[in-house]
Amino acid sequence: MSKILVIGSMNMDLVVETERYPQEGETIIGGKFEQIPGGKGANQALAAAKLGDEVEFIGACGDDSFAPRLKASLENGGAKIDNIFEIEGVSTGVAVITVDPEGNNRIIVSPGANYELDLGKIEKIKDKIIEAKIILLQLEIPVKTIEKIVEIAAANNTKIILDPAPAQKLSDHILSKIDYLLPNEGELDLLLADTEAKNRSEKIKELLNKGVKNIIVTEGERGVNFYNGQETIHLDSLEVKAVDTTAAGDVFAGAFAASLIEEKNHKQALDFAVKAAAYSVTKRGAQSSIPDKKELNEFLAERSN
Ligand code: RIB
Repeated sequence: MSKILVIGSMNMDLVVETERYPQEGETIIGGKFEQIPGGKGANQALAAAKLGDEVEFIGACGDDSFAPRLKASLENGGAKIDNIFEIEGVSTGVAVITVDPEGNNRIIVSPGANYELDLGKIEKIKDKIIEAKIILLQLEIPVKTIEKIVEIAAANNTKIILDPAPAQKLSDHILSKIDYLLPNEGELDLLLADTEAKNRSEKIKELLNKGVKNIIVTEGERGVNFYNGQETIHLDSLEVKAVDTTAAGDVFAGAFAASLIEEKNHKQALDFAVKAAAYSVTKRGAQSSIPDKKELNEFLAERSN
């Protein structure tokens, strides 16, 4: 049994550094190019595995040369990968990413095999969802699949953490079953676009009324805010020189899950997640920027000198 089960996407990230972005119809010369394992699901699984233990990742890949490299990255970091579905004749997910000198990124995902993770495949791994303590989800696989996973998890008291990225609308039914929702500000706005809620407190109230139990709004360098109707927590981000913000949110989510499973309280789990995310923005790439416990401790010790 894995304590944390992550069901989601796996992508090969095709990353190009650029000084600026081209206009429509313009070609520019960029900088260094790298292929780096990524995908929001796989990134979160790897972060949870490197910073905690007993993590399994379930996803879908193609039968191409990207798939073994993505599996190896997860396995080397300690995540179990016995239930990755290989889909014949379909490309593994790919993300085309540009990173500018300030470390900001722009990402286009071609989901490929990630969108083949359908209801039939979830039926096959149903027991894994029932046995897990926490299930960690994102929105790079079909929403219908997310709905089914959420139904099974909620009926069996598996805690559900949902990072609603990439941003899209979700039904009130799904929201009512979420234990921890981790939107950034853009995702929060989109989730509530059809409502009257205008400011932060109205938006939080609306989500709590819909049945979301805990809400964590991640705000990049401005830190994080936690709400659940009884407790409100704000934590600042650590000040770091950002090299590449890709996957910072994924590292936050994986670290938060890893900490929560160790029975840490909300403030402790948020603090751990903020620190792990800060480490990740000081390194290039998605999975290449995820620390293990030793690397995170060294990074924090250096900062306190
Ligand atoms: O959150 C970062 C991730 O988004 C990248 O690794 C990319 O694959 C996309 O899924």
